[in-house]
Amino acid sequence: MAAKILDGKQTAREVRQELGGRVERLAESFRAPRLAVVLVGEDPASRVYVRNKGRAAKRIGIDAETHELPATVSQETLEARIGELGADPGVDGILVQLPLPGDLDAERVVRRIPPEKDVDGLHPVNVGDLARGTPRFAPCTPAGVLELLDRHDIPIRGSHVVIVGRSNLVGRPLASLLLLKGDRGDATVTVCHSRSRDLAEIVRTGDVVVAAVGRPHTVTADMVKPGAVVVDVGINRIDDPTTESGSRLVGDVDFEAVREVASWISPVPGGVGPMTIAMLLANTVRAAEAHEGIGDLAGSR
Ligand SMILES: NC(=O)c1ccc[n+]([C@@H]2O[C@H](COP(=O)([O-])OP(=O)(O)OC[C@H]3O[C@@H](n4cnc5c(N)ncnc54)[C@H](OP(=O)(O)O)[C@@H]3O)[C@@H](O)[C@H]2O)c1
Repeated sequence: MAAKILDGKQTAREVRQELGGRVERLAESFRAPRLAVVLVGEDPASRVYVRNKGRAAKRIGIDAETHELPATVSQETLEARIGELGADPGVDGILVQLPLPGDLDAERVVRRIPPEKDVDGLHPVNVGDLARGTPRFAPCTPAGVLELLDRHDIPIRGSHVVIVGRSNLVGRPLASLLLLKGDRGDATVTVCHSRSRDLAEIVRTGDVVVAAVGRPHTVTADMVKPGAVVVDVGINRIDDPTTESGSRLVGDVDFEAVREVASWISPVPGGVGPMTIAMLLANTVRAAEAHEGIGDLAGSR
């Protein structure tokens, strides 16, 4: 039987609806949450991501603004702009769209974001808090993976979750989240990467498999235990002459073959992607609530 679909589009809609209510309450009692997105340069993919984030935020009443800087901006000017936004009491959340062009040092830029406004969860303080088991902001993509599983009632506690990919953006923070104590954690976690020996054999031991590699068809049907849950984080554009644009998006999982083996599978597009944006909105609302003293940042939701 074909696997059921982990529907990120619908789930993100539910999350946005719930957040909309919280935004309304904030706007009534204080002011709407404000999110500052910093975009450097002209990269078309980054521009699309920023536009989508801004639209999603505005749709639920978040006051989202984009600060555009040219690719020629100096490190000092960029950091100074982040510093200004950090010091502005009217700004609840700051996001710097990555990657940055040229020689700009993203690590230094991210460190300029005050941790309590770091809605992308990439500041070392937030990364450290999550790794120590006391999260404030979790990075949006791994948080979105967990939200997607949770809202489809996929049990994580005690399960063996195999993550393929160890990036700071996805694989590592996802492992930290899954290791947290509690309902949405308590997993046994294995993290694989390009140097892992016997990848197929390891992936086959996963009750849940998360692919975050950036390479189509990395997870194939023979690598998946029958009945496993498969989450595909990958976004890859491949040539497809049958489409109007000549290309289409695929994940890291061989979707058609794996769906015949798995019990649940997330599609690309329409799986983790929409959840990532929903979690950015969730982090922004949490930042604003904490700012107004009606919520704290303990926990990752
Ligand atoms: N849906 C979303 O919202 C969202 C958000 C973020 C990223 N993504 C997508 O997710 C994918 C991963 O992103 P990322 O930022 O994590 O990428 P990344 O920084 O390039 O990391 C890729 C990871 O995959 C590992 N890897 C590469 N080839 C492998 C192989 N043959 N076997 C096993 N592991 C292998 C790498 O291992 P090494 O560490 O050994 O190099 C690395 O740990 C990309 O397609 C990206 O576009 C989607």
